[in-house]
Amino acid sequence: MNGKFHVRLTMSLTGPIGIFDSGYGGLTVMKEIVRKLPAYDYIYLGDNARAPYGNRSYDTVYRYALECVKWLFNRGCPLVILACNTASAKALRNIQQIDLPKINPSNRVLGVIRPTTEIIGNITRTGTVGILATTGTVQSGSYEIEIKKFFPRLKLVQEACPMWAPLVENNEHLGPGADYFIKKHLDNIFEKGKDIDTLLLACTHYPLLLDKIQDHSPPGIRIVAQGEIVADSLAVYLNNHPEMEKRCAKQGTLSFYTTDSAEDFNNHGGVFFGQPVQALHLDL
Ligand code: DGL
Repeated sequence: MNGKFHVRLTMSLTGPIGIFDSGYGGLTVMKEIVRKLPAYDYIYLGDNARAPYGNRSYDTVYRYALECVKWLFNRGCPLVILACNTASAKALRNIQQIDLPKINPSNRVLGVIRPTTEIIGNITRTGTVGILATTGTVQSGSYEIEIKKFFPRLKLVQEACPMWAPLVENNEHLGPGADYFIKKHLDNIFEKGKDIDTLLLACTHYPLLLDKIQDHSPPGIRIVAQGEIVADSLAVYLNNHPEMEKRCAKQGTLSFYTTDSAEDFNNHGGVFFGQPVQALHLDL
């Protein structure tokens, strides 16, 4: 095939928006994205075989997340959302700055931390926000760094909840074991930050724990999940970047892939997505 013709043909193709998480959690974000922007095609990739990522090293999270992003690019996605705070904290910057220019400079990878930090200071009245996240996200310091850019006077109190994502990933989030670990970390965070009036669920798995988080929090605390925030931010992004918007396919299709058992994913994924999901297995 003639080289010029081939380039032109490739450039004119559109592809789905890729949404990635270590496991099921990103489905809580995808649900809101699809609700807000139903016209687009989406591919979800859950790396369930290697979840949770929360306690893994920088190098491991980066390596795993990059493999998943490359897979989504190979499926034709021009734009990938890392719907995972841990991957956004530990891998996004490297992927954007080191890998993207080499793999495909016109594609884009966006995370969930930036859109959240842009608005969180508008929600609190006391000026003190509690951040509940994985150990990896807390240790990365990403929320402190990003929030300072938008709300320099905001006081942050962070609490790593290393058992919360595994409880959700193992379908134990409604059981009594979940109450024990939820109470433990909420007691810790309210002990450290007596002025907290807003709790940010800075892990996309945590919306599944919302009822229990509410039960174990003092009355009047505002609990913020990221799905709608990320969906709103994606809508703004696509509006501001017509060159990318044009490359996003618009037939309203949804597909789901998991690196673990498709049957398990289909049995559990619906709870996160709010409607049944039909996944295919992939080997990375
Ligand atoms: N859902 C992910 C997050 O937002 C990661 C949970 C995990 O894999 O530990 O951080």
